[in-house]
Amino acid sequence: MLSINQLTKTYSNGVRALDGINLSIPKGMFGLLGPNGAGKSSLMRTIATLQAPDSGSITFDGTDVIASPNELRQRLGYLPQDFGVYPRISAEKLLDHLAILKGLSNKAERKEAVQGLLVHTNLWQHRDKAVSGYSGGMRQRFGIAQALLGDPDLIIVDEPTAGLDRWAGPRRA
Ligand SMILES: Nc1ncnc2c1ncn2[C@@H]1O[C@H](COP(=O)(O)OP(=O)(O)O)[C@@H](O)[C@H]1O
Ligand SMILES: [Mg+2]
Repeated sequence: MLSINQLTKTYSNGVRALDGINLSIPKGMFGLLGPNGAGKSSLMRTIATLQAPDSGSITFDGTDVIASPNELRQRLGYLPQDFGVYPRISAEKLLDHLAILKGLSNKAERKEAVQGLLVHTNLWQHRDKAVSGYSGGMRQRFGIAQALLGDPDLIIVDEPTAGLDRWAGPRRA
């Protein structure tokens, strides 16, 4: 369980993106609905420990996430609103690389996880292509695949359906 208390963030341009947010998030998948500029991405980047709040606290199963981010990082899947990819590296290699960063150290298990996610997101037939050359929808599906790496306890998704293309759902190759 993630517990957010009195979280505030004001950017250097003076925009107060988070103003005393209190929220409890159970394990599972979490997203936010709201108008543009409401602060959804700011909150999710903060939960993903990519930016620090000015004040307030976040705890995950009692551990202070801001002071000790690694525990949550290992158990969190995060689909950012926008993400960059390395050019010229194939989807399968990039997903494998991200899996290593996620701590999947066993090579055989990692290969199974990576290949399974490529099948589930219907990217199997495109696994040798560079993600940088993917369409927006394929890229979004790659984002979903990487968010599911390592079977996370908590998955936070930022605009998960934006640009998502026709996708029949999990399909076996
Ligand atoms: N890095 C940043 N620097 C300055 N202002 C930002 C930054 N990121 C977001 N903002 C501003 O903070 C507010 C909330 O943005 P954001 O968290 O992206 O909202 P949402 O995801 O709900 O659209 C907006 O006014 C936005 O312009
Ligand atoms: Mg956003």
